[in-house]
Amino acid sequence: MHKFVAALTAVLPLAAAAPYDLDSRNSTPGCTSISLGDFAWTIENFAYHASYTFSTPAHQISSGDVTFNLTNPAFPEEKVSCTAYSTWLQDFFYGNINYDCSVPEASSTKTSFSFSRPSGELNINQTWICDDEDSQYPGYGTVDLTLDCEESYYQNPNWQPGQIYSSRVITCAPVSLPLTPHDKTAVA
Ligand SMILES: *[C@@H]1O[C@H](CO)[C@@H](O)[C@H](O)[C@H]1NC(C)=O
Ligand SMILES: *[C@@H]1O[C@H](CO)[C@@H](O)[C@H](O)[C@H]1NC(C)=O
Repeated sequence: MHKFVAALTAVLPLAAAAPYDLDSRNSTPGCTSISLGDFAWTIENFAYHASYTFSTPAHQISSGDVTFNLTNPAFPEEKVSCTAYSTWLQDFFYGNINYDCSVPEASSTKTSFSFSRPSGELNINQTWICDDEDSQYPGYGTVDLTLDCEESYYQNPNWQPGQIYSSRVITCAPVSLPLTPHDKTAVA
């Protein structure tokens, strides 16, 4: 599909007034030159959220989740959606699990991430393919996120079985930032 559109782009100068609105990702500069250039992903709305709920003084139902979107400048219209959910007390994310992100169908990219709540370290791992020169890029990036979080706590003063005994909720303001890979090499 990419090759077909690339062929269309090549004949475009002969028909400059063509009424076609070609997908902008196929216009210059190409995937390869973007990938080899001054490259940075965009991380959008990274948010951490956690809740610790006790249904009785001794029974806890707690979980944390992380969500963000990631965009690769070589595929500006392709939003990769990354989410993870954990019930692993106390901080839920310890940087030791790689979670897969989901990409739009027909995408050639593969993305995963790990996150540590205690250190704030976010690791991104993405591979992508550039059809223009048939090369594949693995990229790894790391950033220490400082999250601005708010915590609320409620304890039921007259708790009865069947009611919530206590609830603690942590909500962090979403952060967006560019992330430059520390390692990126073309594999032909
Ligand atoms: C990610 O992008 C999708 C599609 O644009 C949007 O619906 C969703 O709210 C975004 N998520 C975040 C965490 O920004
Ligand atoms: C990145 O992902 C690839 C393929 O999913 C995997 O083989 C590799 O170990 C990962 N690397 C890191 C640093 O997470």
